[in-house]
Amino acid sequence: MNPPERIETHRLILRKPRMADAPAIFANYTQDPEVTRYMTWHPNKDLKETRHHIELGLKLWEEGKAYSYAITLKDSDSAIGMIALHPDGFKVSIGYVLARPHWNKGYVTEAARAVVSWLLEQPDIYRIYATCDVENPASARVLEKAGMTGEGILRRYTMHPNISDEPRDSYIYAIVE
Ligand SMILES: CC(C)(COP(=O)(O)OP(=O)(O)OC[C@H]1O[C@@H](n2cnc3c(N)ncnc32)[C@H](O)[C@@H]1OP(=O)(O)O)[C@@H](O)C(=O)NCCC(=O)NCCS
Repeated sequence: MNPPERIETHRLILRKPRMADAPAIFANYTQDPEVTRYMTWHPNKDLKETRHHIELGLKLWEEGKAYSYAITLKDSDSAIGMIALHPDGFKVSIGYVLARPHWNKGYVTEAARAVVSWLLEQPDIYRIYATCDVENPASARVLEKAGMTGEGILRRYTMHPNISDEPRDSYIYAIVE
């Protein structure tokens, strides 16, 4: 899989992150406890932690293990979120996060549709899927709007350490061809 470094949609540019994005990413969402509530990581305590996340993301991109795109609005280069592709042979999982002031404007649906559409064009990819906490209806709705079908509940599937110390149930959604 060789994803492009830049994907353009109607209102967004999805692009490979840069270390220079760290201050905006920290200010916009990695430190926000409400945004990170359903994430697998704790809110970042300082800019250094966010830099480390970006560094790791760029390393995974170079290694072909994961491709995280900064989500930016067309009229500004500031990273307001992230959407990531995790390849695993013939299947790819996706994950995403968006800064709170931008919620409920359809941005992540737009980003997810664009990456799903690119992935569906790849001849060796047969399944695109995502999971979300059963108490995160906005995320489930994004996956439905991106064309995925709910396949059920994976019980005790994901650790969401900002909610509980015990593994939580997740919905799983997928689109296949
Ligand atoms: C989940 C998240 C990515 C959604 O991004 P977004 O750009 O706001 O999503 P969209 O605007 O494209 O779509 C959101 C949909 O959820 C709906 N929604 C929002 N809050 C909801 C709620 N509490 N209950 C039910 N539906 C809800 C919206 O109405 C909208 O659906 P509609 O178009 O049918 O009205 C964003 O809220 C976020 O970053 N949350 C924190 C991180 C996170 O949870 N990431 C996902 C981990 S699996």
